[in-house]
Amino acid sequence: MSATAATNDDIAKRLEPVGQVCVQGQECKGMEVAATAGGGAAKTPDEIIAKHCNACHGTGLLNAPKIGDTAAWKERADHQGGLDGILAKAITGINAMPPKGTCADCSDDDLKGAIKKMSGL
Ligand code: HEC
Repeated sequence: MSATAATNDDIAKRLEPVGQVCVQGQECKGMEVAATAGGGAAKTPDEIIAKHCNACHGTGLLNAPKIGDTAAWKERADHQGGLDGILAKAITGINAMPPKGTCADCSDDDLKGAIKKMSGL
């Protein structure tokens, strides 16, 4: 019903000045990070990368393979026996790469998702 849409619009406009209102069950931009920072909730690769990996892998700091530089990641993966090989190094840490890339509460799967996303492998 279009009347419903108009009403929702009205409500949204009226709520706007008060600030971001999050309705349970609906996507709420900007609140996801705060929600996951509390711990427990599922993390997406993007969130993990933004929070933990980007600091070094975004710019290639300390010789870290850069996000999106698939060739650099592939060369490493080839040396370590594939994606699982570099995942193992990411878990234990290697040289300037800290264990789990500082994401202490990341599961192996969380880390793998982030590595896949960064490497494009
Ligand atoms: C403090 C900086 C830093 C952070 C934060 C960081 N890395 Fe790294 N990472 C590095 C550096 C430096 C290397 C290259 C290490 C080397 O080969 O000497 C590296 C290498 C890697 C490798 C390749 C390992 C190999 O066997 O060659 C993987 C996979 C990796 N990082 C994953 C991650 C993930 C996933 C995150 C986020 C959860 C992350 N890193 C966060 C610095 C960092």
